[in-house]
Amino acid sequence: MNAAIRAVTRIAISNGLKVKAIYHGYKGLINGSIKEFQTQDVSNIIQQGGTIIKTARSAEFRTVEGRKKAYETIKKEEIDALVVIGGDGTFTGANALGKEYDIPIVGVPATIDNDLVGTDHTIGYDTALNTIVQAVDKIRDTANSHDRLFFVEVMGRTSGFLALNGAIASGAEAAIIPEEEGDQLKRIMEEGFRKSKNSSIILVTEGENTNAMKMEARVKNEYPQYDVHVNILGYIQRGGSPSALDRIMASRFGAEAHFQRCL
Ligand code: F6P
Repeated sequence: MNAAIRAVTRIAISNGLKVKAIYHGYKGLINGSIKEFQTQDVSNIIQQGGTIIKTARSAEFRTVEGRKKAYETIKKEEIDALVVIGGDGTFTGANALGKEYDIPIVGVPATIDNDLVGTDHTIGYDTALNTIVQAVDKIRDTANSHDRLFFVEVMGRTSGFLALNGAIASGAEAAIIPEEEGDQLKRIMEEGFRKSKNSSIILVTEGENTNAMKMEARVKNEYPQYDVHVNILGYIQRGGSPSALDRIMASRFGAEAHFQRCL
């Protein structure tokens, strides 16, 4: 995200525009938490994870009243176009604001879940995927040496991109993802493994139905011959220095946001 913030700022300033950074996402738009950025405000951030302008999940912005307050800030600050950087929640919010008020909005897709239409890759996804692959490579040593079955739970909410592509890239035996129907565990355990195999890694998307703890409990109960273990990767997937691909894509998206505004 920082690479995108940097690109938006620098391209806009070099084309004679003013840039105002809104802190804490839509919450900052409601509260007026805004600072004008100069070129140097985005120095040395391309290699940093997270976002220097912070973020928040704003319940208030989901309401008509909240968006009205946000629009009042937009008018007061003389903002005449918004660039929003984020995922599903960010785009849903932008869509609602754009329908209610006359403000041009450019969306820059950024989420580790990779679950936005119109782009093959979202910012953060490649970095998270690389983190997953490195972790699975390490877990593999224990799985192999001890003949264990591991469920590695990854993020993604309702989207299986991280689990599926993480499994392909790490050579995991299988992935359990929300998009797939039926009893995935049963299929994998009864048809998916070579009978001679006694160490395996299965990537699982977090979630109500597909989480790793549930899978572990089922294996203990239904396939007790396996020595089953769980590893939940959690927030290490959302942090760290971004990959080169993410930096390049975010920079290009950020630059393009300016030109979209000019169309
Ligand atoms: O939507 C991105 C995401 O990283 C999901 O994969 C994950 O479930 C969620 O955010 C975690 O965010 P929070 O800590 O706000 O629940």
